[in-house]
Amino acid sequence: METYDPAAHYDRVTEAWGLLLGEELHYGLFTTGEEPLARATAALTEAMIDAARLGPGLSVLDVGCGSGAPACRLAQEHGVEVLGITTSAVGVGAATERARGLGLEGARFEQRDGTANELPDASFDRVWVMESSHLMPDREALVAECARVLRPGGRMVLCDLVRRREIPFLELRSRRREFAVLRAAFGAARMDPLSSYASLASAHGLQVDLERDITTETRPTFDRWLANAEAHRAEVTGILGEQSVAEFEESCRILEAFWDDGTLGYGILAAGKPA
Ligand SMILES: C[S@@+](CC[C@H](N)C(=O)[O-])C[C@H]1O[C@@H](n2cnc3c(N)ncnc32)[C@H](O)[C@@H]1O
Repeated sequence: METYDPAAHYDRVTEAWGLLLGEELHYGLFTTGEEPLARATAALTEAMIDAARLGPGLSVLDVGCGSGAPACRLAQEHGVEVLGITTSAVGVGAATERARGLGLEGARFEQRDGTANELPDASFDRVWVMESSHLMPDREALVAECARVLRPGGRMVLCDLVRRREIPFLELRSRRREFAVLRAAFGAARMDPLSSYASLASAHGLQVDLERDITTETRPTFDRWLANAEAHRAEVTGILGEQSVAEFEESCRILEAFWDDGTLGYGILAAGKPA
């Protein structure tokens, strides 16, 4: 049987994702629904920055850093020292290149697993988990690692796709083709309720002070991704192949339907470690 390697998935898609999703590899937080994708993805990062209560000189661990755009922004605009980690070697290379191009010394990138990061206890003021947790099967290990590396008085912020209702087994079975298409396009993922992240955070000694559902505000993202697929069709087909581009486009429509029928959505959570 073919084994699934999440790092290999991201190694394969990182370049194309830049064209389809934009510089920041995550959903947009839309206010009017009319704004460009880049402004909406920046707005989601802004919402995480507010939740993180960033300040100059703080040290930040970015778990699942993609190609480094959010981490570079944090270092550049907020004067924090960021270590971005990802399992993807291509992601580390792209992020390191980005930081070098910007002349940034405050953003470094390493290949590490967020569920076993091997970093010292109590070594960061903030832990930032932006749209990467759904790709980590061992969610408990992720949150345990985040809590472990935080200093007392530190904060963890997380945003991601979430599951908003139970999906009965029979429905899972009847929709298995849709899930297979999502997996082909976005990698093996599991969406959990936002409340389950809150429970894990509490179980690991963190105090949750923000749980926000932003399903409605993220909904216009799919239209923008589809428009990018149309605009960059030749280039992304050259990178990913025709079938993968078709799976990406179908995935956008599947996700949109899941957003609309209340199955999936998006949430932000923040929690502090007692001083
Ligand atoms: C959707 S991208 C988000 C990237 C970035 N946070 C952003 O918002 O631009 C998901 C990221 O999670 C990373 N990832 C997946 N599994 C991981 C793991 N176990 N440990 C660390 N990073 C992981 C992927 O390589 C990718 O960089």
